[in-house]
Amino acid sequence: MKICGISGSLRAESYNTALLNAVRDIAAPEHDVVIADIADIPLYNGDVEAAEGIPASVERVAGMIREADALLIVTPEYNAGIPGVLKNAMDWISRVKPGVYDNKPTAMMGTSPGVLGTVRAQMQLRNQLANLNCRTVAQPMIFVGNAGKFFDDGASGLDDATRGFIEKQLAALAALVSA
Ligand SMILES: Cc1cc2nc3c(=O)[nH]c(=O)nc-3n(C[C@H](O)[C@H](O)[C@H](O)COP(=O)(O)O)c2cc1C
Repeated sequence: MKICGISGSLRAESYNTALLNAVRDIAAPEHDVVIADIADIPLYNGDVEAAEGIPASVERVAGMIREADALLIVTPEYNAGIPGVLKNAMDWISRVKPGVYDNKPTAMMGTSPGVLGTVRAQMQLRNQLANLNCRTVAQPMIFVGNAGKFFDDGASGLDDATRGFIEKQLAALAALVSA
């Protein structure tokens, strides 16, 4: 399975990008996780779209999603929702034709320093993905709290329980791909 992975954080030391990198390592060699960078996607502006069409940065990420068997979004939580940069990227990508979300097998996870581990952001993201007609993995959901414990300098990385959830989610995503 080829998976297009997107981190919803632009931060160089992002916990969520670290989590996505960990998933890529766990998935290999059985699955190929290709990470799509959304940092250069501009703010959505309908006037720009009407005058100039879809920006090259948006077409690039949309093309990566199209070419992949599945999509994995790793999201931070900002003010109980997904970060604006992720919403903005998703909105731009939804304007690309032919669409890349329809029927796409999609999984999500996220991590935050707090105990809730992005649960509220993921509930919002799940709703958006349903509206885009993605086929989302229902279980297991993955909320990685206390992010610093896993990813700060000196931390030893994900614990066995979290790795197990990631392996199960990858298997569920592969089942959606082959369904
Ligand atoms: C604007 C803003 C709002 C935030 N709101 C939340 C929140 O609602 N829940 C939460 O768990 N963490 C919240 N945080 C803390 C983030 O979880 C934390 O900064 C995290 O490291 C961001 O993800 P990243 O490391 O991948 O960049 C917020 C951070 C920022 C900058």
